[in-house]
Amino acid sequence: MTASFYQDKIIAITGAASGMGRSYATLLAQQGAKLLLSDVDEEGLNETVALASVLTSPENIVTMKMDVSSTEHWQAFKELALSRFGGCHMLINNAGIEGAAKPVWASSEAQIKQTMDINFYGVVYGCRSFIPLLVKQDWASIVNISSIFGFIGTPNASDYCASKFAVRGYTEALMVELAHVYPQVQVHLVHPGGVDTDIARSERTAKFKHKFLTTPSDEMCQVVLDNVIINNPRIIYGNHAKKTYWLSKLLPLKQLKKIIAKGLALVDKNEYSREHQGFK
Ligand SMILES: NC(=O)c1ccc[n+]([C@@H]2O[C@H](COP(=O)([O-])OP(=O)(O)OC[C@H]3O[C@@H](n4cnc5c(N)ncnc54)[C@H](O)[C@@H]3O)[C@@H](O)[C@H]2O)c1
Repeated sequence: MTASFYQDKIIAITGAASGMGRSYATLLAQQGAKLLLSDVDEEGLNETVALASVLTSPENIVTMKMDVSSTEHWQAFKELALSRFGGCHMLINNAGIEGAAKPVWASSEAQIKQTMDINFYGVVYGCRSFIPLLVKQDWASIVNISSIFGFIGTPNASDYCASKFAVRGYTEALMVELAHVYPQVQVHLVHPGGVDTDIARSERTAKFKHKFLTTPSDEMCQVVLDNVIINNPRIIYGNHAKKTYWLSKLLPLKQLKKIIAKGLALVDKNEYSREHQGFK
């Protein structure tokens, strides 16, 4: 039997307590990787460990309760990688939240800031903390998770879209920079379409979740792992992903706006009143 590409690779994953983070963890456990799993949700993280431990030796798994928006936590996560495994080959910046799920005028500044702190700055802090470890390897990879909402702006998701556009811009710049100095460190930008996870947790987004979040999480993550092996920098997969990408590339915004407006049928429209406080 040929060894898996990921056998013995040291791989750090954020947001590993649920959804795609859990899928990466179990798929990579199966392939003999050494895993550093983190999440704010300790209970979910323990469930992931229970699932992954059946597939690999327990010594291959290390966990940390961690908030990606904290630079102190990132420092501790990096130190854990060094002390337990002596370094790191791959960082999957996967943790994320759905955000306010409200129109611009109804989203609070605190919520917008939280979305940016987790979805964008979490990725920034992750890259900055782990790059010094990754450049020491003969092969390494950074996998940053954007979204198809990193291609288009959709109703009730302005903060989420802003965070995912930001991840895209940051990662596209990083991949050019690093290739110049450390070409063995691959950088990947992932744009999942609708993937069946618990990201849309609120009742406000239930209709959206039911209609769009349909691609199985394991399938999505296996495609990402396969594309990392072939060093594909932009990975677009999942329900509506390719279609959204091409429409965003080819259509003038005037036409694109009309198509995106159909998404209004799926959002909670309680705040779409001229009487809303946000207009006063
Ligand atoms: N599900 C989709 O359709 C979809 C589509 C495009 C992009 N994405 C992105 O994929 C990534 C994974 O999302 P998912 O769909 O698996 O959702 P999920 O909610 O199932 O998993 C996200 C995980 O991130 C964790 N998390 C949240 N805030 C955190 C913080 N501050 N620090 C550390 N961990 C934190 C959560 O506890 C959770 O375990 C996210 O970045 C999301 O934006 C998801």
